[in-house]
Amino acid sequence: MSVPLPPVLVVDDEKNMRRSLQTMLGDEGYAVRAAESAEEALGLLARENFFMVITDARLGGMTGYEFLTKIHREWPDLPSLMITAYATPKLAVEAIKAGAMDYLSKPFEPEELFHAVERCAERHRLLQENAALRARAGVNFSLEQIVGDSPKMRELRQLIRTVAATDARVLILGESGTGKELVAGALHTLSPRTAENYIRINCAAIPEQLLESELFGHEKGAFTGAVKQKFGRVEEADGGTVFLDEIADMSKPLQAKLLRFLEDGTFTRVGGTEELRVNVRLVAATNRDIAKAMAAGEFREDLFHRLNVVQFNLPPLRERGDDVRLLAEHFLNFFRAKMNKPVTGFTPAAIQTLQAQRWPGNVRELRNAVERALILENSREIQPASLPSATVELRPLNATALLAPEESLDTALQRLERGLIQTALEQNNFSLTRAAEHLKLSRHSLRYRMQRLNMKPVGGEAGETTDVIDQ
Ligand SMILES: Nc1ncnc2c1ncn2[C@@H]1O[C@H](COP(=O)(O)OP(=O)(O)OP(=O)(O)O)[C@@H](O)[C@H]1O
Ligand SMILES: [Mg+2]
Repeated sequence: MSVPLPPVLVVDDEKNMRRSLQTMLGDEGYAVRAAESAEEALGLLARENFFMVITDARLGGMTGYEFLTKIHREWPDLPSLMITAYATPKLAVEAIKAGAMDYLSKPFEPEELFHAVERCAERHRLLQENAALRARAGVNFSLEQIVGDSPKMRELRQLIRTVAATDARVLILGESGTGKELVAGALHTLSPRTAENYIRINCAAIPEQLLESELFGHEKGAFTGAVKQKFGRVEEADGGTVFLDEIADMSKPLQAKLLRFLEDGTFTRVGGTEELRVNVRLVAATNRDIAKAMAAGEFREDLFHRLNVVQFNLPPLRERGDDVRLLAEHFLNFFRAKMNKPVTGFTPAAIQTLQAQRWPGNVRELRNAVERALILENSREIQPASLPSATVELRPLNATALLAPEESLDTALQRLERGLIQTALEQNNFSLTRAAEHLKLSRHSLRYRMQRLNMKPVGGEAGETTDVIDQ
């Protein structure tokens, strides 16, 4: 999006000079505002946007030098040009010291003026572009970054590919740490909007009163503290994608405004009357149970339907089978490179420990566990002892805490069984015989159960590692 250049502010106490600068610059296509004193100019600067200031060195009241020093302190990025009556090196030095980017001495050729102004305009554009680049810099999402080979993850990648090509709104649901942000980013990166801005707004992190102005902007004076007009982030995203993260945390009044925006693409800045319109693709996410939020009257149903054109449901990590291992290895490679530590992998027992966990924090929790294990590990392979133990998870205080949200009884029981067997194995140095004794099972029936749970016997007694149970 090319944002129009804001006006240049001309400050001169001589009316003729102001007029002639205004005409010259206006003819060149610049928007110009004029002030006759530094004081007036400072007032304007506080309320409006300018791309540069041109000031005379001699002003009634505050001098041009004092004025520049003030500007420089308050708006260090705002370029300024000083016009001095006589070109003496001393004055030029003073002007630059006060923060002027350039100076011109009277009389000057229009070309000299245009040249200096164009340089400032260029600088402004560069700063803007940089800001836009920075906004995009975080977006370097690709499908390859979404690690996982389980059927659900394969399906997910396929769905991202298909849906990214369209402008359809997407609602991403899933527990905390399941990768919702990755998916939102990939949807933008793989979309035809990829060269435009990707703006992520975390609705839970911004105070309720400020979120509306963040999204839709405000006019100056809209509320205490709104000293300047501010563009909304949806304007910044024009042509691109807006990702509304933690959408279920948005207040009801703002939900109504968002609904209107989704219905016809229009909005008004806070305190404004002008109806504005942008072209953005909307992606939203939440880790909260949105059906519950609707039932409790906290989330508007009509808004839900507007957002829920395509729904992505990210499975919790505990339902992704062998992806736990793939992800653990992925994170190990990542942190190993960063920490420069010669750890080559996980022992099979460590992998089993990982697979026996419930991972309420999902991929994020696994990532943290691997990072921590790598810090703790002193051998060449990550050992179970460096990992958070599944046992802690397995001593819940009451039965309801055992069942994860959406989890079936069967899955929960399997998880529990797997965890108990894993713990027994760990505590008995991976001896099947002793673990079976511990669990009051025959060795044969322990093996049978492990087979059913896709667990492999590892480590331990001689001879036992060879009889690997078929997957
Ligand atoms: N499939 C995956 N492959 C690789 N890394 C992943 C995967 N899923 C998630 N991650 C990583 O896990 C961490 C958490 O992911 P993300 O921030 O996307 O979670 P989230 O669903 O937005 O969680 P929350 O609801 O808490 O905001 C990030 O570091 C992310 O890069
Ligand atoms: Mg997130």
